[in-house]
Amino acid sequence: MSEHEHAAADESTTEATSEKLVELAKRRGYFFQSSGAYGGVGGFYTFGPQGASLKGNVEDAWRDRFAVAEGNMEIDAPTIMPEPVFEASGHLDGFDDMLVECPDCGESHRADHVVEDNTEYEDAESLPIPEVEEVIAEYELVCPSCGAGLAGQAVETFNLMFATNIGPGDSDPGYLRPETAQGIFVEFPRLKEYARNQLPFGVTQIGRAYRNEISPRRSIIRVREFTQAELEYFIDPEEDDPDLERVADVEVTLYPAAEQNAEDGSPIETTIGEAVEEGVISSPWVAYFLGVAKPWYEGVGVDMDRFRFRQHLSGERAHYAADCWDAEGEIDGNWIELAGFAYRSDYDLSKHEEYSEDRFTIFKQYDEPKTVERATVDPDMSYLGPEFGGAAQDVVDELEALAARDREAFAGETVAIELEDETHEIPVEKTGFAVEEQTEAGEHIVPHVVEPSFGVGRLVYTVLHHAYREDEVDGEQRTYLALEPEVAPTFVGVFPLQSDDDLETTAREIVDDLRGAGLSVTYDDSGNIGRRYRRQDEVGTPFCVTVDYETLENEATTVTVRERDTTDQKRLPIDELAETLSAIRDGELAFEEL
Ligand code: ATP
Ligand code: GLY
Repeated sequence: MSEHEHAAADESTTEATSEKLVELAKRRGYFFQSSGAYGGVGGFYTFGPQGASLKGNVEDAWRDRFAVAEGNMEIDAPTIMPEPVFEASGHLDGFDDMLVECPDCGESHRADHVVEDNTEYEDAESLPIPEVEEVIAEYELVCPSCGAGLAGQAVETFNLMFATNIGPGDSDPGYLRPETAQGIFVEFPRLKEYARNQLPFGVTQIGRAYRNEISPRRSIIRVREFTQAELEYFIDPEEDDPDLERVADVEVTLYPAAEQNAEDGSPIETTIGEAVEEGVISSPWVAYFLGVAKPWYEGVGVDMDRFRFRQHLSGERAHYAADCWDAEGEIDGNWIELAGFAYRSDYDLSKHEEYSEDRFTIFKQYDEPKTVERATVDPDMSYLGPEFGGAAQDVVDELEALAARDREAFAGETVAIELEDETHEIPVEKTGFAVEEQTEAGEHIVPHVVEPSFGVGRLVYTVLHHAYREDEVDGEQRTYLALEPEVAPTFVGVFPLQSDDDLETTAREIVDDLRGAGLSVTYDDSGNIGRRYRRQDEVGTPFCVTVDYETLENEATTVTVRERDTTDQKRLPIDELAETLSAIRDGELAFEEL
């Protein structure tokens, strides 16, 4: 039965939705700028009680899908890592954004954002710096803070990593990780043992990442500290194929680079299977994870009419990525990156193999042992020792490396090696050079990596934005969040109709009962009942249970259960409440069916 006159929800998004959402988020405890007592600081946000709960539920849902259901491991690595890690990963040299400083007010801005916000360029990040400078001059772009002209200002690169010192002094620099991924890559030598040295395998991590963004903006969408949920999936590119059948029929909106570059290009509607067959998505692994992600996003409450996968343009890709597709959500007319699905090839593991002391390879056993010719050396140390002293071992290493890569170098009387910029001629007879047949059981390969990288905060924001509704109930304006029960911070609110000992006692018994069944419950006895419904609507609680006088008259047998979106109400027996609500939460029963 519906006790209320209920006008249809206004599903349209308006320019002001974000503003209203940010206000609601602060008022109801979703998120707010941190350290407000000290004036706040750009790019740092605290998730309040509702927000922390929603974020935790999203993380749990991600873990269930990307770690548990896929059979992947999960780790939890430190957020500060030493400098050599980021020398190897390329972040020290290449993790930059474009910065332009206002000549008048001194404010720093992301040059590519100034261009995108004020011209028809959509992906200015992919343009070379001189071109960005030209566009700023050509369009006479101005400082977003004070309006002064930016033409002629140099656009510079700015490294986004936060630096720190590990221990006293500055001899041991470290960085707050800009992606959780490196915490997985550097532990690969150990993680492969846990995977019993078998490819493919995946490792997940949900944790904080830090980027000293030039201009944090749009609330929690671009912040300086945020949570990522990342999966690094290690494969043998020659042997391992994903089980594409499982996702082949998933329907997706794709915006390939070719369509973005074409004058009349537009996103295409297709399925994962077709997209792979037609070569729109070149990596079947990337396609597989897009296929896993799409229904998952839908399940946590992203509106599929406001969702797409967009391929990176070639100039836009991160330094490690061979190909990349972003999951994007629409927010007030703008497409926001929610996650990146990158084919990182063997970039990361090769770099760590090169820069560190450890092995970032996996031994790949051949089906049948192979007989191969190998060039080897067995140098005469009684010759090299006196000749090279402490550097003799380096000479041995050089000879071994040279034999492996160029056996022709040993064809003459002497062989030339380079040591500290000097060339040394060594008699070949002293090198013990030989070409031998060897039987090999396998080889060491550097696995390739496919990476779905999710930003949790941006997703929380999108879920809230897409769930934001306004309608009219009983002639009164109402705001509610149509959150999916799986992620809503609270599943059910329980109220005594009025301040009355008997109503309160029964309501509290119901709270205990529902909590005992594993439901997330809030008890509220303050203010009139309409106000209490509005409060729960605004935080997105799917159901409210009210204990009223009819409950007591019937010897405490039934209560009113109200559904958030329709405001429909039904009477249910108290002793069936836990079971019925649990079934609704688990998707086994719909409220309308009651
Ligand atoms: P953008 O282009 O928006 O700066 P990005 O391409 O740098 O994002 P990635 O490096 O691919 O982002 O990071 C993976 C995910 O981490 C992103 O999809 C996003 O959800 C999240 N993320 C990245 N930077 C931020 C940030 N400053 N604030 C909040 N989330 C972020
Ligand atoms: N791990 C992908 C990124 O954060 O850039």
